[in-house]
Amino acid sequence: MNNIYIPYLMIIKDIIQETFDVKTFQLEFKNKEDKDKFSFLPGQFCEFSVFGVGESTFCIASSPTRSQYLECSIKKIGKVTGAIHELKKGDVIGLRGPYGKSFPLELIKDKNILFVGGGIGLAPLHSLIDYCLDNRKDYKKIDIIYGSRTPSDLVYTHDFDRWKKANDVNLYITVDRIIGGWAGHVGFVPMYLQELKPSHENTVAITCGPPIMIKFVIETLSNLGFSPDMILTSLEMKMKCGVGKCGRCNIGNTYVCQDGPIFSYEQIKPLPKEF
Ligand SMILES: Cc1cc2nc3c(=O)[nH]c(=O)nc-3n(C[C@H](O)[C@H](O)[C@H](O)COP(=O)(O)OP(=O)(O)OC[C@H]3O[C@@H](n4cnc5c(N)ncnc54)[C@H](O)[C@@H]3O)c2cc1C
Ligand code: FES
Repeated sequence: MNNIYIPYLMIIKDIIQETFDVKTFQLEFKNKEDKDKFSFLPGQFCEFSVFGVGESTFCIASSPTRSQYLECSIKKIGKVTGAIHELKKGDVIGLRGPYGKSFPLELIKDKNILFVGGGIGLAPLHSLIDYCLDNRKDYKKIDIIYGSRTPSDLVYTHDFDRWKKANDVNLYITVDRIIGGWAGHVGFVPMYLQELKPSHENTVAITCGPPIMIKFVIETLSNLGFSPDMILTSLEMKMKCGVGKCGRCNIGNTYVCQDGPIFSYEQIKPLPKEF
């Protein structure tokens, strides 16, 4: 019987310093057979291990349509993320997964897609944005509203030009406050969303970011006429096993690691307010 807790070995091929506290790691399978049997969809996550330190949960930030590397973007906040940030090119880390439910790809097909991201919360959206761009004919207009605290906290700035040049894609960037020579929009993401007033007609909205941002984004989307089943988000409850065994991630009877992490607002609404 296969042991689900034995990780794949991944070599760090490259590291992109996104901001002072976020790095994107490009990972390659050490064993080709592991790469051949591994497949995932946007929105799924993995448990990453630094040997001798511990495991942590991160979404896969790259799209399955770009299979050269798996990418994951990690914000340094504590023990495991701190240890991951110390790693160098050529180092090996462990990976278990992919786990959880992906974004509902059938639901979003042939629709306008409105992405609303904040800070490192752009990571799971990044996977789906590239997936949609690589299957462009399956989706209608794509709007991306993204914000961070300051201009230097914006992640994936190296992808912005590519996204803006893609057919029928609008990218709207905002920052909470200005530091340095920022000529762009200033204001919180939900307020920018309210200003832009995107139409809810044949549109699915997908949001991820700090919990407080998600709360106000959902409120704004609802006021703009988006129905609860057309608002999707990724919940980032603390996890341990990732596979429905330890009980760390549950909200009532819902196990975020197995029933999510992607949920519609319709699914979240009746849950106890623990997140
Ligand atoms: C499905 C999912 C996907 C995620 N994707 C990403 C990602 O792509 N990139 C990324 O940087 N992070 C992501 N996270 C969050 C990431 O798992 C945590 O930041 C990480 O586990 C922290 O580990 P640590 O050992 O460095 O922190 P610790 O030393 O364990 O904790 C440091 C501090 O952070 C708090 N903390 C730890 N984890 C969480 C959490 N999940 N929610 C709220 N507070 C927390 C602790 O309470 C403590 O105060 C994701 C989480 C989930 C559940
Ligand atoms: S993380 Fe263990 S049950 Fe969800």
